[in-house]
Amino acid sequence: MKRAKPIVIANWKGYVETPEEAKRFVQVIKRSTKTLSACQVMLAPSFTLLPTLVPLLKNSAVQVGSQAVSAHPGGAHTGEVTGAMLRAVGAVFSIVGHSERRALGGAGESEEGIQNQIARACEAGLGVVLCVGEHEREASGAHFGIIAGQLASALAAVPLKNMGKLMVAYEPVWAIGKTAADAMQPGDVQEVFIFIRKILVEKIGRAAALKVPILYGGSVEEENVQGLYHEGGVSGFLVGHASSKSDSFIKLIKALQ
Ligand code: 13P
Repeated sequence: MKRAKPIVIANWKGYVETPEEAKRFVQVIKRSTKTLSACQVMLAPSFTLLPTLVPLLKNSAVQVGSQAVSAHPGGAHTGEVTGAMLRAVGAVFSIVGHSERRALGGAGESEEGIQNQIARACEAGLGVVLCVGEHEREASGAHFGIIAGQLASALAAVPLKNMGKLMVAYEPVWAIGKTAADAMQPGDVQEVFIFIRKILVEKIGRAAALKVPILYGGSVEEENVQGLYHEGGVSGFLVGHASSKSDSFIKLIKALQ
């Protein structure tokens, strides 16, 4: 079976802060449309940059989404950005459960809070990029239990009709924000991916589970992206620091080809 195009999601985190930076990024990547077309590219800027990016990428294949979504519907929730607000500015997906948000703690980022975020995103018609991953890797294999628990909890919140818009991003926290040399090795990624696919099959059935893209995130750079793609058996990547500058982002995508 022909492999689908690799998915590359740029999680800009707080790296790109101004509309000017975002516009320059888009200007540069638009000059590399042919290179980009080998992948399904998605950008997740900060909330404030969505109104800048969405119109700039309107007639392109690049999808734009958010890094988070509120667990609440609209109403008396100061500072929250709801699914409906995101849809209104043209976001089509949201990252949910990123470890940097889980680390904030509190009810909003608990497993129940994440379930609510997923439910609100689905109600608003947003695709969900669900992040899971352990903090540390132990020889005992305890990380498998952590990943299974996070998946089981989150999947319970995804309505069946929204399964087609779900992606899972496995991001081992210990591998985030470093360099390619410190990232997870392809063989280890493959082992976890087989495990995640097995849990998906158990929870949502084989047919739906086989359609869910599973991405890897954690120090993906131009140096390791190809090995992870070819030997790790991943559907694509959730990229942090290397996605925040147009030149490193384009180099990473070229390295995938
Ligand atoms: P880095 O690529 O900077 O390690 O970040 C990974 C990540 O957290 C993407 O969501």
